[in-house]
Amino acid sequence: MKDVLLAIESSCDETAAAVIDRNRNILSNVVATQIELHEPFGGVVPEIASRAHLERLVPVVDRALRESGAELGDLSAIVVAIEPGLVGSLLVGLSAAKALSLALDVPLVTINHVEAHLYACGLETDREPFPAIGLVVSGGHTNLYDCRSPVEFELLGSTIDDAAGEAFDKVAQILELGFPGGPVIEAAARNGDPKAFAFPRSMLNDPRPLLSFSGLKTAVLYTVRGTPGSSAEVPPLTDQRRADIAASFQAAVVDVLVRKCEQALRQGNRQRLLVGGGVAANGVFRSALADLSGRTGCEVLISPKEYCTDNAAMGALGWARLERGLVAGLDADVVPGLVRKKSTE
Ligand code: KG4
Ligand code: ZN
Repeated sequence: MKDVLLAIESSCDETAAAVIDRNRNILSNVVATQIELHEPFGGVVPEIASRAHLERLVPVVDRALRESGAELGDLSAIVVAIEPGLVGSLLVGLSAAKALSLALDVPLVTINHVEAHLYACGLETDREPFPAIGLVVSGGHTNLYDCRSPVEFELLGSTIDDAAGEAFDKVAQILELGFPGGPVIEAAARNGDPKAFAFPRSMLNDPRPLLSFSGLKTAVLYTVRGTPGSSAEVPPLTDQRRADIAASFQAAVVDVLVRKCEQALRQGNRQRLLVGGGVAANGVFRSALADLSGRTGCEVLISPKEYCTDNAAMGALGWARLERGLVAGLDADVVPGLVRKKSTE
């Protein structure tokens, strides 16, 4: 008999399930992405997302069990992300998790998706992730946390407008590069000059842990299409110009993220930084974080690349909650809205 849990993730546009043992070894990690469904719209369409979760969840759970070698009877708990996210999407995962928990008579453990992104930084490493400052940087979130333990996260601040990943997605649309924006901009930027355009870096002089990316996005838009009211001619969007804009945009995002992390570390008097979420897959960002560590001596734990974008392996957080007796009832509900300021035991 194995001692494993099944984690389910359906908060946005990936349907995912993973089987994880008590030592946080990921025995299987299945992700069915919906990128192809949302691509024509340049962003996630909530109604399409929840319908796709409904179709895919059972096959994804089946596959996760098969690939792990575990049987339903081996499961010690069912873990599911209930916040934050799209209400319809979250409900599909939670309903499935409740059904499994009831049928198998095992505990239901609910987790916060954003906190799970941070917990993922401790996977596949022997290093202790807590306490730390945490940055979750994805399509839906750009949040800074004080992370005291796996079950105590305090939101310090976040973006006041677009999430960094959202800015990547919108700029990719402006540059006609496709969706999702992060990987295509990173690829285009490889042939570009990050100093070609001096794009704005907002909020750097603001001592608060707040970020902003909408001014940067607008600056890119005006560079590509021209400034409204200006008669200045806009150069054609050649491949080289596109690459230069992509590289300069990426450099601006990375610069802001790294400097805001550095500020939060200093203010919070922490020596360790956790970075998770889809944008943490970005290679330029990862090496800038390594430089930050070298420069300041603080320890930086970045989520392993395969656990940056949405997945259920980060549901390993469920073990930390289960071990502390933090189990949910069958009356658990989803919390689609904004991230709570404080989550403690
Ligand atoms: O964590 P995630 O899968 O979903 C949310 O919780 O939002 O993050 C998706 C976001 C998208 O905005 C995508 O453009 C961005 O992460 N992303 C990247 C990269 N890979 C994904 N951004 C920059 N560079 C990347 N390599
Ligand atoms: Zn996410």
